[in-house]
Amino acid sequence: MKTILKLEGVSLSYHTKDGEIPALKNISFEVKSGEFVSVIGPSGCGKTSVLSLIAGLIKPDEGKIIFNGKEVKKPDKAIGYMLQRDELFPWRTIEQNVFLPLEINKNKDEKRKKEALDLLDKYGLKDFKKSYPNQLSGGMRQRAALIRTLSTSPDLLLLDEPFSALDYQTRLAVCDDVYSIIKNENKTAILVTHDVSEAIATSDKIIALTKRPSTILGVHVTETNKSLSPLKRREEQIFGKTFELIWRELNDEN
Ligand SMILES: Nc1ncnc2c1ncn2[C@@H]1O[C@H](COP(=O)(O)OP(=O)(O)O)[C@@H](O)[C@H]1O
Ligand SMILES: [Mg+2]
Repeated sequence: MKTILKLEGVSLSYHTKDGEIPALKNISFEVKSGEFVSVIGPSGCGKTSVLSLIAGLIKPDEGKIIFNGKEVKKPDKAIGYMLQRDELFPWRTIEQNVFLPLEINKNKDEKRKKEALDLLDKYGLKDFKKSYPNQLSGGMRQRAALIRTLSTSPDLLLLDEPFSALDYQTRLAVCDDVYSIIKNENKTAILVTHDVSEAIATSDKIIALTKRPSTILGVHVTETNKSLSPLKRREEQIFGKTFELIWRELNDEN
């Protein structure tokens, strides 16, 4: 598999009026095409910052981010970013929400509109295109938000704690749902989460960060059965073993 993304010695500080806040220190990792990678770590360690750097929204102080062979200098349409509180606009219908990135990128042509509408049909939102977000369940809203991110056909998806607002039961189901759409559409994904179980259930590879200033604590290639859904993987014996290993690693450090 080809490498789609590479971080090389990335460091980042925030410059505030009270001084400098070092957030990330010497972060390096690779993501291969088609991989599902999670970034985990304690709250405030810099997970969102990692995604913002990859998305080209902020620049590192040191190091490089290479996407599809080129250094990331500004936002790239081939990278789709689903923000932590990425809510649908309540005053727009589902289809108007899904068209939003096309409007922002000024490429809302008939072909792209049709592709976006096809995704809504394909993933069970056919009858909700003219509905408003508050008429949908939390899980369906999440699916619509994902389809909105997919409407510009990105190669790489960045997901920042996409399930954190959902209750536990819904969260498990929505996670399966979102995962299967990402796989079905052959996308590469980076999921940020503070939930170790969620990372193990979904990912090929897990990057654990230390507390701030964050460095890489460990990289784990999971041995779960990838033909199973994330929910089913939780029942595997290897799931518990991996959980204990990573949990201990995070706790020894913090
Ligand atoms: N725009 C900003 N200005 C100043 N400090 C920031 C800014 N964004 C994030 N930080 C700080 O950087 C650290 C990492 O933030 P973040 O990447 O959001 O962490 P996480 O997503 O892991 O919770 C935190 O201590 C946070 O307060
Ligand atoms: Mg965050």
